[in-house]
Amino acid sequence: WEQPLDGIPAIGRWGDHQLLATGFAGNGMTMATFAGMLLADLLLGRDNDLADLFDPRHLHLRVGAVAYLEEGAETAAYFLGDRLRQNTTPLSVLAPGEGKLIELDGRQVAASRDTHGALHLLSPVCTHLGCLVHWNDAERTWDCPCHGSRYAQDGQVLDGPAIAPLEALNLPKTPR
Ligand code: FES
Repeated sequence: WEQPLDGIPAIGRWGDHQLLATGFAGNGMTMATFAGMLLADLLLGRDNDLADLFDPRHLHLRVGAVAYLEEGAETAAYFLGDRLRQNTTPLSVLAPGEGKLIELDGRQVAASRDTHGALHLLSPVCTHLGCLVHWNDAERTWDCPCHGSRYAQDGQVLDGPAIAPLEALNLPKTPR
């Protein structure tokens, strides 16, 4: 598990002869150390006040189920809503450092202009699970609202879960 739905890592007994430590969600340095201490306590039969909280067999079902439904609904809203929205802003109005989802030649395009004035045209479809990325003015990145992938202005992946870059589009770049 990369990131459990309830945000709590799973550390503890998984089966009769299995121990599990996963779901650190980017906090591996801290959580792996903690997991080593907790698993050592379990193996040696020592009490640990946090054992129940992190027990992977609980799976935190109630919180997890609600979070799962909420996350699913939110993802669906982005997935569909962004596709229905249309923006016919002409490329010529994109200022350096600005990006927008625009309609170009009948398709949605993640268009941005870098600080040197060069135009970048990318597919806005996140390579993780297909939501449309949004322009982040502060960071000058394309960010996916669904699961947090981030892409540089040229489409390269900055943060996962996506691992492939946004597709570069070979469309006419003349001002329209
Ligand atoms: Fe999952 Fe974009 S669809 S991060």
